[in-house]
Amino acid sequence: MRPTGETKLQILEKEILILRRQIRSLKSLHARRAEELRGLKKIVETFQQGVTLKDMNGRILYSNAAEARMHGYTAKELMGKEGRILGARDDGRRMTREQLDGMTSWRRERINVRKDGSTFPVQILSDVITNEKGKAVEIITTCKDITERRLIEEILRKSVADNQAILTAVPDPLFHILRDGTFLSCRAKSEEDLALPPALFLNRKVNDVYPPDLARLTMAFIHKTLEEGTTQSFEYRIAVPLPQGEPRDYECRMVVCGENEVLAMVRDITLRKGADAALQKSYDRLHRTLGETVQALAVTVEKRDPYTAGHMRRSTQLACAIAGEMGWPGSQIDGLRIAGLLHDIGKITVPAEILSKPGRLSEGEIILIRSHVQVGYEILGQIDFPWPVADTVLQHHERLDGSGYPAGLKGDRIIPEARILAVADVMEAMTSHRPYRPTRGRESALEEVAQRREILYDGKASEACLVLFQQKAFEFES
Ligand SMILES: [Fe+2]
Ligand SMILES: [Fe+2]
Repeated sequence: MRPTGETKLQILEKEILILRRQIRSLKSLHARRAEELRGLKKIVETFQQGVTLKDMNGRILYSNAAEARMHGYTAKELMGKEGRILGARDDGRRMTREQLDGMTSWRRERINVRKDGSTFPVQILSDVITNEKGKAVEIITTCKDITERRLIEEILRKSVADNQAILTAVPDPLFHILRDGTFLSCRAKSEEDLALPPALFLNRKVNDVYPPDLARLTMAFIHKTLEEGTTQSFEYRIAVPLPQGEPRDYECRMVVCGENEVLAMVRDITLRKGADAALQKSYDRLHRTLGETVQALAVTVEKRDPYTAGHMRRSTQLACAIAGEMGWPGSQIDGLRIAGLLHDIGKITVPAEILSKPGRLSEGEIILIRSHVQVGYEILGQIDFPWPVADTVLQHHERLDGSGYPAGLKGDRIIPEARILAVADVMEAMTSHRPYRPTRGRESALEEVAQRREILYDGKASEACLVLFQQKAFEFES
């Protein structure tokens, strides 16, 4: 029995209506899908990385602008081409169909080839797209040009290799030490170079390894190196091997190596230290010998003229005191001392009777006595002193206003040593007794220096001389 009131035609019309609704709904769905796809495509087109869609035979269905540009093609040119044209021929690691079946996504780095045949490294990320039945139907791949990254990696690798080569070439033991004093590494050509075997340093702290004094010193320099960022060095002595070995001397140079780490290069300087000590000893002995020789020469001169005995020694005592008062360094005073002790050595050629002659001297005798500066210059000029000894002797009778001899030099054309010695020479001579005149006394001598300073005598040297006598109780030795 057919339902009442509903004909076959009416049923058909109803079904057609339903079908039409379904078609409209499908059309609208399709339009939305198409809209979504256009949106997605737009996004993919703006990607900086290459994107390719391939079918399961490897044929390119789509590639974005970046992918095409990266490989020197247009997107249109790539469409329908075999995907493998983008890979280098010698890249043998292509996926087989069987392999693809078992995979959903994979990442790898390989060499790709451009349209002009040039190659470049890429990083590839591929994903398999499946249909509703789970069957693989397409492969979507993103491709990134990693030329720049590879270049940086190569530079870094080379830099690390260079650093390693430099460190290997350094013959001295090397330590990497952290800010807190932990030894990170220890490298030495020979274990005997170290206070402990290398393995005993590793992961231990400076305080646990070194004696307390050296540990404190090392920690202070680690912090100084890290804070100032400059190379620091210090010397130390340690028993090798610890704790009962022979004491040895080392020099440690520290450089910053990373934010919280220093590289310490340790050099054994025991031999150099020993040589330095021996050299110092030899220098001291030589210095003593030179002093004794100079003294012997001075005595030889003074022996011929007992009245002036001690004159050179006492003049020297005052000259050195004046130089000290003027703040001269010890090394320069050493030269002044030698010049002072020998300043009248030229008198050796003057007959003793003229030197000690009472009364007035003839013009010829005066010339003979004055020649002592030139003779002294010639005698001492033959010795290679590290100070201007001969010139000091030659100029010790020159006066600031040019009234002195032998050259009548003026002002600062007279060397400082001679300007000081002139003051001391005059002071000593005037305060001593001579056979041909009585002593003029200290006060009179000081007055002469005070009145003629800046005229005959150097101002600063005169001032220092006055200070020594009037404020610092200077006394000539007997
Ligand atoms: Fe003299
Ligand atoms: Fe003199």
